[in-house]
Amino acid sequence: MFLTAVTGSTDGIGKQYALELAQRGINVVLISRNPDKLKSVAEEIEKLYSVKTRTIVADFSKGTEVYPYIEEQLKDIPLGILVNNVGTQYEYPMPLCELPTAKAWEIINVNVVAVTSMTRMVLPGMVARGQGAIINVSSGSELQPLPLMAVYAATKVYVRNFTFAIREEYGSKGIHIQHLSPLFVSTKMNTFSQKLLDGNLLVPDATTYTKHAVSTLGRVQTTTGYWLHGIQYFFIKLAPEWIRIKIGAQMNREFRGEYMQKVRTKIQ
Ligand SMILES: NC(=O)c1ccc[n+]([C@@H]2O[C@H](COP(=O)([O-])OP(=O)(O)OC[C@H]3O[C@@H](n4cnc5c(N)ncnc54)[C@H](OP(=O)(O)O)[C@@H]3O)[C@@H](O)[C@H]2O)c1
Repeated sequence: MFLTAVTGSTDGIGKQYALELAQRGINVVLISRNPDKLKSVAEEIEKLYSVKTRTIVADFSKGTEVYPYIEEQLKDIPLGILVNNVGTQYEYPMPLCELPTAKAWEIINVNVVAVTSMTRMVLPGMVARGQGAIINVSSGSELQPLPLMAVYAATKVYVRNFTFAIREEYGSKGIHIQHLSPLFVSTKMNTFSQKLLDGNLLVPDATTYTKHAVSTLGRVQTTTGYWLHGIQYFFIKLAPEWIRIKIGAQMNREFRGEYMQKVRTKIQ
């Protein structure tokens, strides 16, 4: 039986991946931190589609301690697809010394340690079966250093390099390793900006984004997942890196301003 596991599957892009894959008749293992949200997503999927779900409660923010438990839970499950989606971000754009140290480690644990550990965990089984797909969710912030989101953007550069390297190692063994690099998507990750939450053609909601992204699976190895993001990505890359760093810094200063304004309004 063909199964998929999605990390960070109780909201945003990960939840939509679980729904989209279930719609295609694939049984889903949902891995996320909130038991109530996991139960609710599992029920939603089973009600909508005739597939089975399993849930694994795991908080990726703590480091390596969670992986033996996940491995035990996945022991008898032959995974066909792993969606390394889980990710976390700054609460709002800020310079490094404003970022609590604990938050920096949380971002590294969730964005770097999870993709590394989950991939290391499932690859041997996929290689033994001679087939499988791994989707690693990065971000457009991998394109250049991103001031005021320095740690987040750096973790996504890791995802990119890691993905490209293991693709070279395991692509010939029947494993499809996809690098997925969304630009802005309207999810709660971007709560710092009402403009991003409101969305627009360039900032799709998670449902729209994921419908496009899932359709690229097995067809494209490296993609933004959404055609308008592809066009944006192309034009962004035309500018020299130092200009992109300045533009990124300015964009984040504006988001920071919007966030601070909202905080001030709430206090008054
Ligand atoms: N949204 C964007 O603009 C954007 C752009 C580029 C890339 N991305 C990437 O896309 C991926 C998904 O982002 P999203 O926007 O869908 O985020 P989201 O809406 O915040 O959803 C994140 C999911 O991950 C789960 N999660 C967060 N921290 C966790 C932890 N410590 N342990 C276990 N699960 C955890 C969340 O659980 P809860 O439901 O409990 O919160 C939720 O299910 C991330 O890798 C992100 O970096 C997003």
